[in-house]
Amino acid sequence: MLKINNLRKVFQPDTPSAHIGLSGVSLHLAAGEFATVIGSNGAGKSTLFNAIAGSFLVSGGSIRLDGQDITYQKEHVRAKNIGRLFQDPKTGTAPNLSIEENMALVYSKATERFPLRIALRAADITHFKEVLSKLDMGLEDRLKIKVGLLSGGQRQALALLIATLIPPKLLLLDEHTAALDPVTAGKVTRLTAEIATRHNITTLMITHNIGSALKEGGRTIMMDEGKIVLDLAGRERTDMTPQDLLRRYREITNREMDNDRMLLSGAKE
Ligand SMILES: Nc1ncnc2c1ncn2[C@@H]1O[C@H](COP(=O)(O)OP(=O)(O)O)[C@@H](O)[C@H]1O
Ligand SMILES: [Mg+2]
Repeated sequence: MLKINNLRKVFQPDTPSAHIGLSGVSLHLAAGEFATVIGSNGAGKSTLFNAIAGSFLVSGGSIRLDGQDITYQKEHVRAKNIGRLFQDPKTGTAPNLSIEENMALVYSKATERFPLRIALRAADITHFKEVLSKLDMGLEDRLKIKVGLLSGGQRQALALLIATLIPPKLLLLDEHTAALDPVTAGKVTRLTAEIATRHNITTLMITHNIGSALKEGGRTIMMDEGKIVLDLAGRERTDMTPQDLLRRYREITNREMDNDRMLLSGAKE
């Protein structure tokens, strides 16, 4: 589904502040595969997502999605096939629109049925309620409430539903639970796994939580200095504890994982 070959990105090339963001990243994901991504701050994780989503053009290499070369495709064109969530729950939904309107916006964009109230059919509302009830947050009875009034966790859960209401070919999750309290973060992580499995969505999830990095999905990718330095799957992955993984990180990089949140979450589980 996703085939990234020898991807390179140099920021401010040919200047004294030139900086290598990605240095020959190759990664293939099969359809429906769910991989987690870990690495210290500045390892190039978000840069990889930006490259895939088209936030900038890469300096070299290629990206293929579902057989199509998207390396030079514009960001808004890729967005039709790529869903993306960020750390900040405010980024995935419009605060001044209701839950119902935010959901309708997805259909409105996809079908080019404007304005919103035309896009919205009774059958859609029934469907929205059904999807929302799976969150177990009582949102199915609050379709008219403005999204800006929801809690961070509710809003991120809703953003996840909205990003997958029409299942994308690829879902990019950039520490999407990092700003939530641990209980809510756990809930959103479970929901993420459920939705990805239900719709067989190919997913990359950046997380600072080593426990989730080893538990969620079927593959763990470790990045450092713009490269993939470890790619774990199968038995090797299931046998690995968070402590083992931190040790591997030290062996590979000769450094401690500088992200203390990661150390804490690794030590806990
Ligand atoms: N637009 C940019 N211009 C210059 N440098 C950047 C840009 N985006 C990211 N970088 C640099 O690339 C490196 C990787 O950043 P990033 O991908 O955000 O790391 P992380 O793994 O924490 O998500 C960092 O050193 C960062 O400062
Ligand atoms: Mg990042």
